[in-house]
Amino acid sequence: MEKKKGGFMQWLDERLAINALMKIMMTEYYIPKNINFLWSFGVLIMLVLVILIISGLFVLMYYKPDAKLAFDSVNKTIMMDVAYGWLFRHIHAVGASIMFLVLFVHMGRGIYYGSFKPPREIVWLTGYLLFILMAATAFTGYLLPWGQMSYWAAQTITTLFEKIPVIGPDLVIWIRGNYIVEDATLTRFFALHVVLLPLLLIVFTAIHLYAVRIVGSNNEDGIELTKEEKKTKGIPFWPVFMSKEFFVMSVFLLFFFYLVFFQYQFAMDPINFTPANYLQTPPHIYPEWYFLAFYEVLRGFFFSQNLGLIAFVLSMFIAMFLPWIDTSPIKSGNHRPLYKIAFWIFVADFIFLTILGKLPPTGLYGWLGLIGTLIFFAFFIALPIISRIEKKQLESGGNQ
Ligand code: HEM
Repeated sequence: MEKKKGGFMQWLDERLAINALMKIMMTEYYIPKNINFLWSFGVLIMLVLVILIISGLFVLMYYKPDAKLAFDSVNKTIMMDVAYGWLFRHIHAVGASIMFLVLFVHMGRGIYYGSFKPPREIVWLTGYLLFILMAATAFTGYLLPWGQMSYWAAQTITTLFEKIPVIGPDLVIWIRGNYIVEDATLTRFFALHVVLLPLLLIVFTAIHLYAVRIVGSNNEDGIELTKEEKKTKGIPFWPVFMSKEFFVMSVFLLFFFYLVFFQYQFAMDPINFTPANYLQTPPHIYPEWYFLAFYEVLRGFFFSQNLGLIAFVLSMFIAMFLPWIDTSPIKSGNHRPLYKIAFWIFVADFIFLTILGKLPPTGLYGWLGLIGTLIFFAFFIALPIISRIEKKQLESGGNQ
């Protein structure tokens, strides 16, 4: 930063220490060289978050959080009357869907390269919290257009809380603000979706980034660099690394706007273009694609609703505990043959569950759902065993 005597930058630096801040956050923050494009997904998530907030603000200007008005405010006012209203709605809907795609890749990268392991446990935990917050934001936002699928998805998922012992039935009424999903539910979901949840997302993103800055980025080999090595073997975040990020962001935006203009239907369920009807349940109720795998785990134990519910809650939260489930001292999947196999089976199973989640849970599909669910949990059971094998191999002088 140029220090012209009496210049505006110097004036600002004396008051905000921007030069020191620039050094810590940008020019003297070193990124390892042995990382690949998957390390750009954190920045892509931030880009999509900004896109969601801006497009959300524009649709919010015409949205009406009232059970009598919501459907028309979205499907008539925003989609037909307001200039470019359709564009902002498509950007918002596609953005929500793509957010989960980039999140899953970001999380998958973290799992494969062992980025959740010490010293990055707080990075992992704050990240996981962001995932849960994002899921809550998507779930509350989905109710707002007040279409048939909005309504019945909210009705189905809130009903799950009924199973919680003792407090369950009262809790459901408290969440809904009524005995069924109704106007009161819409207004409270609206408040959460537009105020509390985005605020928490921004705050925890800042904490997540701060935690990444403190411990530094992991790399493809999962080998930690010392402070000195980071300087000599790394590249400065600004301007070198960011120039690569800008390239990735540009390619991503091309893909994103291709989806917005030409393939937006995938982010909008056709059933949701029918207004919510309390008296008519759609033949199949299913969530958006990004929740399908978890939904399938819920249905997986088709012979016991209670078991299904426990499995569902566990499937949502179990990966949060990875730093304590996988205790192998080797980080990267590149150097862990057994882990690599387990990881790819897990990824294939997640896709399999996602496909099954959209199909009716009857006959063969029911059994396949059960198998998929068991494989999902088998991954987490296998990790301590793989960790132990790897520790033994290391002790007996095996290579990494
Ligand atoms: C709003 C959501 C999120 C944002 C904005 C975000 C942003 C970022 C950014 C910018 C980075 C540094 C660049 C990179 O390594 O990609 C990062 C790193 C990281 N994030 Fe996230 N993240 C989010 C959610 C998550 C989630 C859900 C997880 C996992 C559960 C997670 C786990 C991690 C880990 C482990 C790292 C360090 C990776 C490494 O150094 O190898 N993040 N995140």
